[in-house]
Amino acid sequence: MTNVVQDQDEIRTIDAGNAPERFARGWHCLGLAKDFRDGKPHSIEAFGGKLVIWADSEGKLNVLDSYCRHMGGDLSQGTIKGDEIACPFHDWRWGGDGKCKDIPYAKRVPMRARTQTWPTMEQDELLYVWNDPEGKQPPADVTVPIMRTPDAEWTDWRWHAITIDTNCREIVDNVVDMAHFFYVHYSLPVYFKNIFEGHTAIQYFNGEGREDMASKRAESSQKAIGNSSIAAYHGPAFMIDDLVYHYPDYDVTSVLVNCHYPISPDKFVLMYGTTVKKTADLPEGMADKIAEGNTAFITKGFEQDVAIWKSKTRINNPLLCEEDGPVYQLRRWYEQFYVDVADITEDMTARFEFEMDTSKPVEAWRKQVAENVKAQEAAAQKAAAL
Ligand code: FES
Ligand SMILES: [Fe+2]
Repeated sequence: MTNVVQDQDEIRTIDAGNAPERFARGWHCLGLAKDFRDGKPHSIEAFGGKLVIWADSEGKLNVLDSYCRHMGGDLSQGTIKGDEIACPFHDWRWGGDGKCKDIPYAKRVPMRARTQTWPTMEQDELLYVWNDPEGKQPPADVTVPIMRTPDAEWTDWRWHAITIDTNCREIVDNVVDMAHFFYVHYSLPVYFKNIFEGHTAIQYFNGEGREDMASKRAESSQKAIGNSSIAAYHGPAFMIDDLVYHYPDYDVTSVLVNCHYPISPDKFVLMYGTTVKKTADLPEGMADKIAEGNTAFITKGFEQDVAIWKSKTRINNPLLCEEDGPVYQLRRWYEQFYVDVADITEDMTARFEFEMDTSKPVEAWRKQVAENVKAQEAAAQKAAAL
């Protein structure tokens, strides 16, 4: 019998840690604004609690803590009366500024009858809320750029939401993870670079479609000969991906949004949407078709990520090789949204640039694709001969 003695010091252990109890400071998109303008209050579980969203008589969307400060009724189950949300329990009326405006059965409203509000912003037909554990207003210079530029017409958003049972840091990690694009998303990255600065984190990515995986990729991307993508997080939870698909005769310019809001430390809602620029090469119907194809492709992409997240562990101390991106630097950048503004340090926001040397991975991946194609051809020939 042999005893294998291992020196415990040599075994790398995983520090899974705990997801933070606090939720990130910043703009979080809650979806298409029009979906909240149907004359009914809406309930959204977010930031460890429940929010009520409704449109006042002018159509302005308001967001409050859904639990009524009177006796805890759920405002999202109430009704909109004039500009206010009326609680279903005793009809107290709450305004978009968080103040109780009226109690129909009372002589007067108690002093300091005020509840928590979330500042809102509407842009590109999307509704955003500002979450801030310190309760401050959003600074004017911290915002999200406008995406559907007025220089052209864009297709309507195709918008989807899915709930994912893990901490939202997993999706942010994707910003630096070049290698998973090959293994998880069947794309062959040839260029990869990151820049973090202030509240933005950018990923530059050029990829080729994997020839050996054509059947696993979505319809629309199959004909594309490649794509270039510049994807930037603006704050902790909203990523804009300027995505150009290169086809043999033309390019397709699209915007992909990848955003999320936390429900709890271990659950978040991932939302994504696409819009495609209409051009002379790309008249209405075709742009719509491409938007639809891209959405299918992106849905598939997120499903691939979700499959990994479902079974993986949280890891605070990933063991990295040179061809992995700057995971630790990205997480330091991400940390700025989880501390008080006064505690943000220079290393969280200073400009950081990293361009990946893709020579070795590209060589290895091209070789693997060629081998797979060869094996597939041999298998097809064999099957044809039977
Ligand atoms: S609990 Fe809302 S009015 Fe009483
Ligand atoms: Fe991914």
